[in-house]
Parts: sequence; structure tokens; C-alpha cells
Amino acid sequence: MRLPMATPSGWRREGNLPAELTSFVGRTRLLATLKRHLNDSRLVTVTGIGGVGKSRTVLRLAHQMRAHYADGVWFADLARLQDAGMVKQTIASALGIADQSSRAAGETLSEWVADREMLLILDTCEHLIQGCAELVEELLEASPNLRIVATSRQSLHLTYERVVPIPPLQVPGDDPAESLFTNESVQLFAARAGGVVPDFVLDETNIGSVAELCRRLDGIPLAIELAAVRLRALSVDQILALLADRFSLLAGASRTALPRHQTLRAAIGWSHELCAPEERLLWARLSVFAGDFELDAARFVCSDQRLASEDITDLVTGLVEKSILLIRSNHAGVRYKLIDTLAEYGEEWLDKLGETETMRHQHLMYYLSLAERSEDAWSGPRQIYWFVRMRQEHDNVRIALEHALRTPGETLLALKLLSSLWFMWVCCGFVREGRTYLERALSANPVPSKERCKALWVLSYVRSAQGDSAAAQQAAEQCSTEAVRVGDSKAVILASKMQGTAALLQGDLQKASALLGVAIEFNTDNKELNPGLLPAWSCPGLMDT
Ligand SMILES: Nc1ncnc2c1ncn2[C@@H]1O[C@H](COP(=O)(O)OP(=O)(O)O)[C@@H](O)[C@H]1O
Ligand SMILES: [Mg+2]
Repeated sequence: MRLPMATPSGWRREGNLPAELTSFVGRTRLLATLKRHLNDSRLVTVTGIGGVGKSRTVLRLAHQMRAHYADGVWFADLARLQDAGMVKQTIASALGIADQSSRAAGETLSEWVADREMLLILDTCEHLIQGCAELVEELLEASPNLRIVATSRQSLHLTYERVVPIPPLQVPGDDPAESLFTNESVQLFAARAGGVVPDFVLDETNIGSVAELCRRLDGIPLAIELAAVRLRALSVDQILALLADRFSLLAGASRTALPRHQTLRAAIGWSHELCAPEERLLWARLSVFAGDFELDAARFVCSDQRLASEDITDLVTGLVEKSILLIRSNHAGVRYKLIDTLAEYGEEWLDKLGETETMRHQHLMYYLSLAERSEDAWSGPRQIYWFVRMRQEHDNVRIALEHALRTPGETLLALKLLSSLWFMWVCCGFVREGRTYLERALSANPVPSKERCKALWVLSYVRSAQGDSAAAQQAAEQCSTEAVRVGDSKAVILASKMQGTAALLQGDLQKASALLGVAIEFNTDNKELNPGLLPAWSCPGLMDT
């Protein structure tokens, strides 16, 4: 049976663009060029080195284009995604698609975009180039009114793609007729300086040094932002002198200019050195998060005997002040995020420290305990809170699952995490994702266990929600057999309930009534059973009609 795709009630036609948190500077010509290309071509890829402003410029473009697309402008951030297989799911969740069907993810996505007029932004494709290119082709073929803007360090290599390389900001001297005061790089430095030292003004006394600093930093926005932060403790001249020393050391005796990517590397390295040792360690450790995270998560995941849990709050504040962490608050609380390019460096350092696996394990343990808490609370008065919360944590959950599934010794934890999140798969629009992961995790854990029994009834529940009653029946039967084998009486009851549900879907009311009757009779304190008990209570009613 095929169920139609649902449009979630909260689906917003205008899109899901993140807010712009800081002021935007210059790029007028570039934005006009991008708009022109977008007019002529259905795929525009913005390329350039890390930190040059790809994501930010495209976000600006997206905000400006909002009124032009009847079905909105949508933003999917692929930066921290590790598995090309998850690109479709990530885009589907960015679009807010709730898919209850059992079809392949790409099919649903293509169908969803088919008659919609929308602009889709795929931010940060370089590490998943092949997967992104295939998906882009599929989507553009499916929908005549869809346009896509991708950002990537390299192009997607599609014939109809318009590639727009984005250069750094103009630096003083690029245009001899231009006043130093109106130069883009100088403007960016001044804007960020004003955030650090509120009475900062550009004037004749400092403009020469600011201009020189911007030239040294090659007009790379991220490098300029990291340097401006130093005004907290240093004057512009001091920053310039320190940076000049460091760069000429790196460039060797010849004092030739550094290639741009090295400029950025040097600026980041410099910023890194100026952090306290604990801040550096935290920077590296925070790179295990996918996207944003809460303070509690950082405290749990990143603390040990070297970083005390009670110090994490101050260290996080220090990294926010240094423009290494972004801070975002919304109604659900305050969240932090490492700037993408800085997260990559953090990952490299973490690897060199030999801590990657330990941090990934800690990350997994945190999201497992959060999932267990949310499962406990799901059927209570704070269901909406948990719905919003777990949607926000979705990327972190995915990355934790991927780690658990590929790490020998952790696969049982994947099974536990997945099973605890049954409400997320069944009730929040992610049935297909839940099914795919559950099937993978079950085959990675073939030996019967209580964990497997729970995963099997959850799988049956998920398949029922997809309308795939035969497969639901099969999982429930397997659950029943294994539950008897391992002596898990709770799972026996749940298996009976799931078998009953599958029978109900297949229209076999006699069988459904018998099985659901057993489930009700023996149900004691199964909170997992409650939300799913509806078919059990309704079945005898159906029999009466
Ligand atoms: N034109 C701009 N105006 C203001 N800030 C900018 C501009 N371009 C980039 N930035 C800032 O510089 C940093 C790096 O930009 P980002 O878009 O993340 O680079 P990329 O995506 O190329 O790695 C971000 O903090 C971003 O907000
Ligand atoms: Mg980016």
C-alpha cells in the first residue's frame, strides 16, 4: 500500500533561511552577477577557498531572492555531513518533508519538488561532490521550476552548470581610484572591530594600518574577522606587527607573498596560538559536533581530567569572544556552532591528538542518553518541547549513528539509540530514515538480545507506519520468536501488539482482535505501548460495527 506524501502542517511556503547574524559588507557586483546567472541557468555553483565568503554571499543572495519563488527559498547545510548516502535525507528534512511512504528517498524528493517553484541552496558540497552532482541532476530533471545554487570548493562538473568563482574581498589598492575608507575589506574590518571595541572608528590615524592589515590578509573575510577580534587586547598596529612577523617567517627569507590558502591557514594558526591551551583543546574537541550544539552537550562530551566540566562554560565564552564559535539563540535556548572552516582545522588537530575515537564515543553516549530521556518524556506534557529539541539534534543523532555503525564494539549502541527514538521515526516524519537505519543496525547485530527485540518491534512499528504491512508482520514475528528465546516478556507483548497492528492494516480483523487483545491483557507498565495502543483499543470497536 502506498500512502501519499504528507505536507506537514507547519510547512512554510517562504522557506527555511537561517537569519543573518552579522552585518553584510560589499559584494554588490558579485550578487548582481549571481542573479544574472541564476536567471540564465538552473544550476549555479559558487566556488572559492575556505573562508572566502561562499556560504555568506549565497545566504545573502537567498534572502534577496525570497520574493521571486512562489514555493520559497530553502537552505540545506551539508558541511558536517559525512555520508553521501544521507544527502537526500538531509535535504528532505531541510524542506520539512514528512514522508510516510516506503519508496526510495530520491523518488519522494523528486516528486516533492516536481511541480514546485523553488530555489534550493546546497551549502558546502565539496566533500560529497559525486553524491551532490547525481542528486542535483535528478532533481533538476524532475522539476522544471526548480533552481539550485551550490557552494563548493570545486565545481560539480555538470555540463549545464554555471560556475562562479568568488574572489576575496577587494583590498586597498585593487582600485587606485577608490578611497581607503570605502574599501570592502576595510569596511568588514571596521564593522567587526565595532563589535569588539564599541567606540572603534576608522580615521586618518589608523586607516593606513587597517588597510595594510587587510592587504596582508588578502581580503579573506574569515581571516579579517579573526584579526579584528584581537582588538580586545591589541592596537591595530600591534596586530599588524605580530601578523607581519609571522607571515614573513612563513614565507621564508624571500618575503614573497603567501598563496591565499596559506594566508588563511596562517591566520587560523595565529588565532589558534593566541587561544589558551584549554581553549585550543576545546576547539579541537568541539569539532565532533555536527552543526550546532548546546552547552550541556559540550560539557558532557568534551570534559575529562584535562578539561574540567565546570570550566567549559567559560572556555566556550572565550571561543565566542574570539569569533571561533557562533552563538545562536532561539525560543528553544542558546546553541553554539564552530565556524565551518574552523571546525575542519579542529578535526585535524583532534586527529593529531589521537582523540577522535574517544570524542566520537562520548558524543554517541551523550545523544544516547538524550534519546533515552526524550523517549521517557515523549508521552508526557512536554511532547512539543521534545519534538522541537530532537529535530534540532537530528544532525548530531545522524553523525552519532554513523559512528556507532562503523565502529566495532559500538554497533549495539546504535541499536539502542535507534530504538529509543521510535517516536522520532514514527511520529515526526522520518519513517524511511528510521527503517533504513534500523535495518542496517539489525544486520550489524545478528545475535538475539533484548536490544534486538526492541529494535525489531520498533522496525515493525515503522514499517506499519509506512503501510508496508507484510514487512511489518515479518519483523513482529521475528521479534516474537527472538523475545521468547531471550526471555524478554515485555518484547513478547509488544510483538503481539505489532503483529495485531499489521493484521489490522491487512484487514484481518479476527486476527488483529485476538493479538491486540493479548497485548492489552498482558500490558502492565509498557509506556512504549501506550501511544501505539490506539489500534488495540479501536479494533474491538471495529469488530462491533
Ligand atoms: N561580504 C561579507 N560581509 C560580511 N561578512 C562576511 C562576508 N563574506 C564572508 N563573511 C564572513 O566571513 C566568514 C567566512 O565566510 P563563509 O561564508 O563562512 O566562507 P566559506 O563559506 O567560503 O568558507 C563568516 O563569518 C562570514 O559571515
Ligand atoms: Mg561555507
